[in-house]
Formats: sequence, structure tokens, C-alpha cells
Amino acid sequence: MDEKKRVGEKAADFVEDGMVVGLGTGSTVYYTIMKLGQRVKEGLNIQGIPTSVQTEELAKKAGIPLANFKDIEQIDVAIDGADEVDTNLDLIKGGGGALLREKIIAKAAKKFIVVATPFKMVEKLGAFRLPVEVVPFGAELTEKHIRELGNDPILRLFEGKPYKTDNGNYIFDCDISHTLHTKELEEKLNMFPGVVENGLFINMSDIVISLDQEKNVVLI
Ligand code: 5RP
Repeated sequence: MDEKKRVGEKAADFVEDGMVVGLGTGSTVYYTIMKLGQRVKEGLNIQGIPTSVQTEELAKKAGIPLANFKDIEQIDVAIDGADEVDTNLDLIKGGGGALLREKIIAKAAKKFIVVATPFKMVEKLGAFRLPVEVVPFGAELTEKHIRELGNDPILRLFEGKPYKTDNGNYIFDCDISHTLHTKELEEKLNMFPGVVENGLFINMSDIVISLDQEKNVVLI
């Protein structure tokens, strides 16, 4: 927990007065949000754009003013966690189910900062199953398409029923451990009409905040 706190809190240093900040989802960026809430109480003037209902509630509790997309011109920085980070700083995200809003916000941000404990750092993506968000209509057909690509989709369940994202969609967790070309896979998956988005974040991270072997906070 302390590792998450240290990398999460470090990311708050990148936030300056007047910024619009994309607020990610998960237990690492939780600490960024709490730290930002503290800084807001000390006078920092920012607006947050949350990537999930969960984060929206957390940010409100932390006292971070929230913005609407219609009222902002740009997102200065987005800060988020990851399920895996490879040596190119490419990511698998969506373990918490928020991948669509996370990707929309990370893509729009001028800078995308990832907070990841050493456990998340890998040579090659794919030990973690890739979350793929699909619309419920025809989900069986979409599942078949994903299976034909060789990615062994498993429907994510919650309390015995299909898990629903904040957007009302399902998630298939897919095996991509054999995949060498992740950029190609990201594009291929999104070509199926029933796929809304997938959790591959390729060429998107600007900075990854983690810990080195001596447990010092490092920027990669
Ligand atoms: C949610 C995500 C999270 O960023 C990812 O699952 C990491 O979460 P945590 O920091 O709790 O390990 O992608 O959709």
C-alpha cells in the first residue's frame, strides 16, 4: 500500500495552478486524488475531469472542483494507473473497468502520466488479460470475432451477472500473451462493430512514475 501511496502522491507534483486534470481510476491514482484534494484545500486552483463514477465520487469527497467537457478548452494533464507497463511504456488498462473513459481522457490530455508500482512493470504485455469493452447487443457475435482472432475472451462477471461498465457495456477479458504486435491488435479489435474500445494504450504515456530496486521514486 505504501508503494502505491508513494508513486500516487508523486504524480500530484505535476499539477499546477489553473490546470484541468484528468483523474484516473484505481487504488494507485487514489493517492494522487487525495493529495490533490489536500492541495486544493491549501489554495490550489484546478478542475478535475473524472474517468469513472467511482472517481467522480472520490474527487467530490476530496473537494476537487469538477469540470464539464463543454466548459473546458483542453485537458492539461491526465494521471492514471495501469495493470501492466512494458519497456516501451505501453500499457494494459481496464482492470477496474474504466478503460473507455480513461482512454478518451488520456488521448485528449496534453500530458499523460502513469502511476505504477514495480509489480506492474513487465518486459512484455500480456500476463494480465486485456479488457475489451463491448456493447451488450450481439455480444455473443462480438465474442466469436474476438475468439477467431485467438484471444480467448472471457465475459467479466459481477455477482453472477455480466459486469456492466459506467457506459452500460460488457467487458471480455482476453488472452493476448502470444501477441507480438500490440498496436496492430489494438486496431484490429476496435474494427469489430460491437467493440467499443480495448485496454491497450500504445504510444500514449509521457511519463511513468514507479519505484526502483532501492524503492526510490523514479520517473521513466
Ligand atoms: C481501471 C484501470 C486502473 O488504472 C488499473 O486497473 C490499475 O488500478 P490499480 O491502481 O488499482 O492497480 O485501468 O480501469
